[in-house]
Amino acid sequence: AHVWRGVLREYADRLGVTDTSTVVTLGEGGTPLLPAPALSRRTGTDVWVKFEGMNPTGSFKDRGMTVAVSRAIEHGAKAVICASTGNTSASAAAYAAHAGITAAVLVPEGKIAMGKLSQAVAHNGRLIQIRGNFDDCLEIARELADNYPVHLVNSVNPDRIDGQKTAAYEIVEQLGDAPDFHFIPVGNAGNYTAYTRGYTEEAQAGVSTRVPRMFGFQAEGSAPLVRGEVVKNPDTVASAIRIGNPASWDLAIDARAATDGYFGAIDDDRILAAQKLLSSEVGIFVEPASAISVAGLLDRVEAGVVPQGARVVLTVTGHGLKDPHWALRNADGSQVEPTVVDATTSEVASVLELAPAA
Ligand code: F0G
Repeated sequence: AHVWRGVLREYADRLGVTDTSTVVTLGEGGTPLLPAPALSRRTGTDVWVKFEGMNPTGSFKDRGMTVAVSRAIEHGAKAVICASTGNTSASAAAYAAHAGITAAVLVPEGKIAMGKLSQAVAHNGRLIQIRGNFDDCLEIARELADNYPVHLVNSVNPDRIDGQKTAAYEIVEQLGDAPDFHFIPVGNAGNYTAYTRGYTEEAQAGVSTRVPRMFGFQAEGSAPLVRGEVVKNPDTVASAIRIGNPASWDLAIDARAATDGYFGAIDDDRILAAQKLLSSEVGIFVEPASAISVAGLLDRVEAGVVPQGARVVLTVTGHGLKDPHWALRNADGSQVEPTVVDATTSEVASVLELAPAA
């Protein structure tokens, strides 16, 4: 059996890692690519799900953070800084803790999921809530990194993109080729850019025969790339992608053009319905932002854009346990109330409508 050693060691040649390189790893990458028969049946396409919630801190950010923190340390950094809607801060805090350096994390006050907030605190991040949105946090983080001895680990740092493109390498290896379409959530569009690079490298190296059409999705209330303008007060239940001014805007537009790609917007009800569909019919629990890949596929199949039989990969970016309360909310907004009964076998059997075995 092969023991996975994290993306820097697994892709050492591709990421320029040598025997003397600093490697800060928590074992990220090597995540499952799972068939989704329920989605294949529903759409008439061949659907695979790249489950990035299986990374050590529960999101794809770890692929980029291992590279960014390792290279920051090679540059002598004693502290890293990031702005975050939650997952980047959880990842930065964890990798900094492992390396024995400080992570300062700036998050929008009251707008990040509880699981992510608790991760940043658990890993001893210097957590600061900003009275503002993510875009304000990123502006401050960039200014601090320009003027103080702190190393920026947001995805505007190319080391992050370098690490995140390894997900595309894995998919090509797992499927034996690149898919026809790739569906992915978009916030800052760093990951969209990273997958496009990874797939492009694989095609250029002759490892795959194609680059997939890259289909990226934003929440309706937070869809600057779809509208073609900055959104001043972005709003969505998908807090991870509540971003009005994507940092990788120009790179994303180029990537869309290069892959015959697409940016679409999905409203919050459809995001939450897709989250429920994926957890109840495929067995994969993701946070709302991640479910937008599923909603995006349904939307584009309905629009007639995805041919029957096409092979599609959906990246689901973060684990459902990060932000679990959405699962306990019914579609009408009421709270799920689990059934309570007395501690008798017969009563449980009755509630489960079980007839005695013959
Ligand atoms: N999905 C999840 C779960 C995320 O946390 C993010 C971004 C994205 C998708 C979008 O990725 O920004 O590369 O387009 N989260 C960042 C953060 C902003 O701070 O954790 P992107």
